[in-house]
Amino acid sequence: MNSGALAGKKIVITGVTGQVARPLAVALARDNEVFGAARFTDQTARAALEASGVHCVAIDLAAGEVADLPADADYVLNFAVAKSNDWEADLAANSGGVAYLMEHHRHAQAFLHCSSTAVYKPAGHHVFAEDGPLGDNHGVWPFLRTYSICKIAAEGTARWAAQRFALPTTIARLSVPYGDGGGWPAIHLHMMLSGNAIPVHVDAPSVYHPLHADDILAMVPRLLNVASVPATTVNWGGSEAVSIEEWCTYLAELTGIEATFEPTSHTIDSVQIDTTRMHELVGETTVPWREGMKRMAKALHPDKVK
Ligand SMILES: NC(=O)c1ccc[n+]([C@@H]2O[C@H](COP(=O)([O-])OP(=O)(O)OC[C@H]3O[C@@H](n4cnc5c(N)ncnc54)[C@H](OP(=O)(O)O)[C@@H]3O)[C@@H](O)[C@H]2O)c1
Repeated sequence: MNSGALAGKKIVITGVTGQVARPLAVALARDNEVFGAARFTDQTARAALEASGVHCVAIDLAAGEVADLPADADYVLNFAVAKSNDWEADLAANSGGVAYLMEHHRHAQAFLHCSSTAVYKPAGHHVFAEDGPLGDNHGVWPFLRTYSICKIAAEGTARWAAQRFALPTTIARLSVPYGDGGGWPAIHLHMMLSGNAIPVHVDAPSVYHPLHADDILAMVPRLLNVASVPATTVNWGGSEAVSIEEWCTYLAELTGIEATFEPTSHTIDSVQIDTTRMHELVGETTVPWREGMKRMAKALHPDKVK
C-alpha cells in the first residue's frame, strides 16, 4: 500500500490494533504523524505498530479516557469497535466513546466514523441506499448480539456531535473489508482448508461488497474531503457486488479444494448496497475482487495457492 493523498498531517486512528485500522495506520505513518489508539490488550501489536512509526496512545472509549490523544490532530479516523457482547459495556464504548472522542477532537478539520452495513435491517435481496431501513442485522449471531444496535447508536451519536461541535464528519458504512492481513473471506478460506462447510443464508446468494485494504487506504482521504455538518453518510464497499458463494468457490479453486455450503437461517442475510452516492462522492474502487482475494490467499497460505 502507498499512503494515498494524505501527507504531512497529524492523524489519530482509533482501533489501531484491529483488522481494518492497522494496515491503514502503518501506510499513513509513512508520510504523516500518526497516533494510533486502542486499549492495547494486544501488546505485541503495539510493539509492531511503534516499529512502523505509529505513535501508540492508550485510550479507553468506554471510560471516556481519551485525554492523551493530541487535541490538535488534523484528522481523526474512528475504527474502534467494542464487541464484548455486554450491552452496557458495548453501548458505552461504541456510542459514548464516539461522543468523548468527537468532543476531544472538536477542532479537527474532519472526523471519519467507520460504521457498518450491519446497520441495515435485512430484507431479502433488497439493495440498500443510505436512507434504507435500519435494524438488528447481526443479532442472529449470538456472539455478536450487541453489534448492529451499537453501530446504529454510534451513528446517532456521531450525527449529534457533528452538529454540536460543528465538526465536519463522514459516517462510512463499511461492507466486507479484507486484504493480505485477513477479513471475512480469509476466515472462510481458513474454514474450508480445515474441512468445514461455510454457513450461508437460506435465501441464496449471500451478497456483499468486499473492499480491499488498498481501496480503503485510497478512499480515506476522499471520505475526509466530503465530511460535512450535518454529517455525510455513505455506503462504503467494493464497487462489485459478490456473494459468499462466489468468493468461496473462487478461493477453493485457487487452493484445489472443494467449497461446501451449509444453508441456514441462523446466519446474517445478504446486504447488497447501492453504491451510487459512494461513486459520486469518492469514486469507484480499483482492486478487482478476484485479484484482491488471490493476493490475500497467497499472502496467508503461500503453500496452498496454485
Ligand atoms: N471487520 C469487518 O468485517 C467489518 C465489517 C464492517 C464494518 N466494520 C467496522 O470497521 C471498523 C474496524 O473493525 P475491525 O474489524 O478492524 O475491528 P477489530 O479488529 O475488532 O478491532 C477493534 C479495535 O477497537 C479497539 N477497542 C475495542 N474496545 C475499545 C475501547 N473500549 N476503547 C478503545 N479501543 C477499543 C481494539 O483494541 P483493544 O481491544 O486493545 O482496545 C481494536 O484495536 C469498526 O467500526 C467495525 O464496526 C468491520
